[in-house]
Amino acid sequence: MSEEMGYGRAETRPAAEVPALLSWAARFLERRGVPKPRLNAERLLSHCTGRSRVELYAYPERPLRREEKRAFVRAVVRRSRREPLQYITGTTVFRYLELTVDGRVLIPRPETEMVVERALALLRERGGHPLVVDVGTGSGCIALSLAREYPAAVVHATDLDPRALSAARGNARRLGMEGLVRFHLGDCLSALPGDLEGKVDLVVSNPPYIREKDFRALPPEVRDYEPRSALVAGPRGTEVHERLLRQASRWLAPGGWLLMEGGEDQVEGLAELARALGYVEVKVHKDLNGRPRMVEGRLTPRGAFT
Ligand SMILES: C[S@@+](CC[C@H](N)C(=O)[O-])C[C@H]1O[C@@H](n2cnc3c(N)ncnc32)[C@H](O)[C@@H]1O
Repeated sequence: MSEEMGYGRAETRPAAEVPALLSWAARFLERRGVPKPRLNAERLLSHCTGRSRVELYAYPERPLRREEKRAFVRAVVRRSRREPLQYITGTTVFRYLELTVDGRVLIPRPETEMVVERALALLRERGGHPLVVDVGTGSGCIALSLAREYPAAVVHATDLDPRALSAARGNARRLGMEGLVRFHLGDCLSALPGDLEGKVDLVVSNPPYIREKDFRALPPEVRDYEPRSALVAGPRGTEVHERLLRQASRWLAPGGWLLMEGGEDQVEGLAELARALGYVEVKVHKDLNGRPRMVEGRLTPRGAFT
């Protein structure tokens, strides 16, 4: 290779921008207390260049366009202010779906993927065309996953926040799933049309469950950027769960299930309340770390108990 081409001597090689930018960003983010700074830097550079992480490392000398570098610096500064990575890139992956997320909705968490797994098991047990309601749908992650992975289900979703519902509808549209989930604005199950009373086979929910007094101690990514109404339920943290436990008996079909995600120190108490209210087959499920994170209960085959 000739010297004129610029690759003849090491010192005439173009500076490999990618490693230099990644090192700068990782150091900058680390100084600002961002967890996993290198990984964050890589994800942001991938996002701003459209190159995969593998490409970034395989071809570090490939030059970057000026706009790409500018976009990367802007993104790194946003992340240094503790804005969540997913709000900066605008997407997250939940099970088989790529969802758009922004400050209107909670970023779906991996443990909620297990709630979907359990919901699917219950739907398979029920068979046919079960009627499902996802309460507090946020990005739509649970409702859209159930509609995608159990196409025979008839899926409804509710949320108290109109901004969250518009985000969920946007996700349905982008995923080509418009019309597969019916969205309703309002409080818990009272948002549903009255003709669904007594017909729902599964109510599934990941409601807000942070106690008011615990809010300040949340990581800045959560406290300062995710919607407070998606996080905080009230002084106990279980207010929405308790309301759902009381409301659901009116909406569930005989033998229908209520399945909820909750905090590890909450679900045992919720299971007790479910039993006291008359739910049967009440179970607590643990996450992959062995922590109790889900509670389910079933309406008796005879139907409403209150
Ligand atoms: C913890 S987020 C869960 C979002 C999504 N389902 C997920 O798992 O990522 C709780 C959602 O419930 C909604 N919400 C809060 N209180 C509600 C209520 N009383 N009725 C219906 N939705 C409610 C919030 O607006 C928020 O979108």
